[in-house]
Amino acid sequence: MKVVHTVSQLRAELDALENVGFVPTMGALHEGHLALIELAQIEAEVVVVSVFVNPTQFSDDQDFAKYPRTLDTDIEMLQSLQKGPDILFAPSVDEVYPDGLGQPLAPRAGALGSVFEGASRPGHFEGMLHVVSWFFRAVRPQVAVFGAKDAQQLFLVKRMVHREFKDQIRVVEVETVRAENMLARSSRNARLSPAAFAAAPVLFEAMVKAEELITEGVAPSIALESARKQIESQPLAKLDYLALVNKENFAPIADDFSGHAQMLVAAVVDGVRLIDNISFYIQEQE
Ligand code: PAF
Repeated sequence: MKVVHTVSQLRAELDALENVGFVPTMGALHEGHLALIELAQIEAEVVVVSVFVNPTQFSDDQDFAKYPRTLDTDIEMLQSLQKGPDILFAPSVDEVYPDGLGQPLAPRAGALGSVFEGASRPGHFEGMLHVVSWFFRAVRPQVAVFGAKDAQQLFLVKRMVHREFKDQIRVVEVETVRAENMLARSSRNARLSPAAFAAAPVLFEAMVKAEELITEGVAPSIALESARKQIESQPLAKLDYLALVNKENFAPIADDFSGHAQMLVAAVVDGVRLIDNISFYIQEQE
C-alpha cells in the first residue's frame, strides 16, 4: 500500500489506471471500514482509501477536537490486511482547503441540510458534501463506497453525484456492521463507557420492535411513539430524533404510506452521540 499526502502524488499513482474504487473515511478505522474496503475491492481493480478528519463538517469545536486521530494505527491496520487497499490518501487541511477554512462552501444540501442530523449539526452536510466532492475530483473514482449507517449522508452524496457528477460515479452502500450486541459500529464507540456500550443497543432494538409493529399493521405514528418510549426508558440515552422517512426522497411519511421506508434515530448515550437506521418495506394496508 502506498501512502500519499498530496493530489499530485495521488495523480502520479492513478493517472494510468482505470476502474478506481474509493472509500472515504475520517480514520480511526474499524471493522465497518474494512467491510467498505472489501466491497470496493470486489467492485474495482484499484482501491484508494482516504483518511481526513474534515474540520468543516463539525459544528462543534469540541467534537472536532475529540475526534480520534490514529493515522499510524490506521496505516498499520491496513498494512496487516491480507489484501489491503492500494493507496492510502491522507491529505493535510492545507491541501484540502488551500484558501483557508473561512471560505463559504457551496450550498449543496438544501432543505435536507437542516433536518435530522442537520438540525443538531448545523453546516455538517455542507462540509461533508464539500469534502466528498473535493475527494471525488482528486481521486476520480468509478465507484465510491459508503456505509448505510449514515443514511442522510448517503442520500445527499447520491443526489450530489446525480446533480454534479452526471452519475459518472457509482455509489454503492455497505450494510451497517454491528457489534455482537447489535450496536452499529462507529469510530465514536471507542468513547463509550462499558455501561453506555451495554445501553446503546436500545436504539436498534426500539427500531426493530417498531418495524415489527408496523408489519403487523400498527400505524407508523403509533409504532414510532412506542419506540420513542422504549428509548426514553433507558436512563443513559437522551433521544435527539426518531423518524420514519420515505427512502426515495427522505421526506417524513404519513400513516397511509406504502413503499420503501427508513427509520432514523440519533441519541446521545452517556455523552456520545450515536446514529443508526433500518430500512424496510411498508405494504399497502387493505
Ligand atoms: O462518513 C464519514 O466518515 C465522513 O462523513 C466522510 C464521508 C469521510 C467525509 O468526511
